[in-house]
Amino acid sequence: MILLKNEEDLNCLRRANRIVIETLQAIKKNIKPGISTADLDSIAEGFIKKKGGIPAFKGYKGYPATLCISLNEEVVHGIPGPRKIKKGDIVSLDIGVLIDGYYGDAAITVGVGKISAQAQKLLDITEQSLYAGIEKAQVGNRLSDISMAIQERVESNGFSVVRDFVGHGIGRNLHEDPQIPNFYSPAAYNPRLKEGMVLALEPMVNQGTYRVKILNDGWTAVTQDSKLSAHFEHSIAITDKGPLILSSLDDNNSSLQLTG
Ligand code: MF3
Ligand code: CO
Repeated sequence: MILLKNEEDLNCLRRANRIVIETLQAIKKNIKPGISTADLDSIAEGFIKKKGGIPAFKGYKGYPATLCISLNEEVVHGIPGPRKIKKGDIVSLDIGVLIDGYYGDAAITVGVGKISAQAQKLLDITEQSLYAGIEKAQVGNRLSDISMAIQERVESNGFSVVRDFVGHGIGRNLHEDPQIPNFYSPAAYNPRLKEGMVLALEPMVNQGTYRVKILNDGWTAVTQDSKLSAHFEHSIAITDKGPLILSSLDDNNSSLQLTG
């Protein structure tokens, strides 16, 4: 069942997502060669708590940290630890925040120093695919319009869409209906989009095969061919005026704007 949100819900979701995006910006500033992913995690946790929020991933199904930090061939759910960031890495940062009963969720991928042209293209196309999906988040469209727009942008640029993880509704729960595949699947639930739906769109895009595997830590998803992977995510609301990006830095933003 898809829970629709009213104006008051949206204000609360905006608040949660504001902390999310501010935390991402703070972490981005601290990403330098030599810093460990555990250090970034404690900066994020401190920042969220200072803002009055609660890290939403910590404890979720036993996940042990505030951030998911996924480097290079890691797709999602990388657990922060002693590993140090290096020049040339691409770093996916995924974060969820709970405040006053509402969740915010967003992700970005950033390059450290100079990265290869192919890596940069992967980041650009992944972010573009997210915005291509957001553009389709209009009243009257179907969920599959979002999925297909993402997939089309990715595959027409020679990359692949991860199948094993999907986007989701979000609100008073981190994960609500519907699931949002980043690819067309005839079997998927395909409702018409309605005003008041709040969705976390999150394409995960691989340079090579879309296939992933989970490491022995039980969490970290990596590409099967060890090629690079990127991840961008926004929480958005469907309104009668079009998609509203809740996890945007710009308060007046009711249309599309890059925040990565
Ligand atoms: N990355 C997931 C999402 O954006 C949530 C991760 S939950 C965790 O929906 F427990 F793995 F952190
Ligand atoms: Co999410």
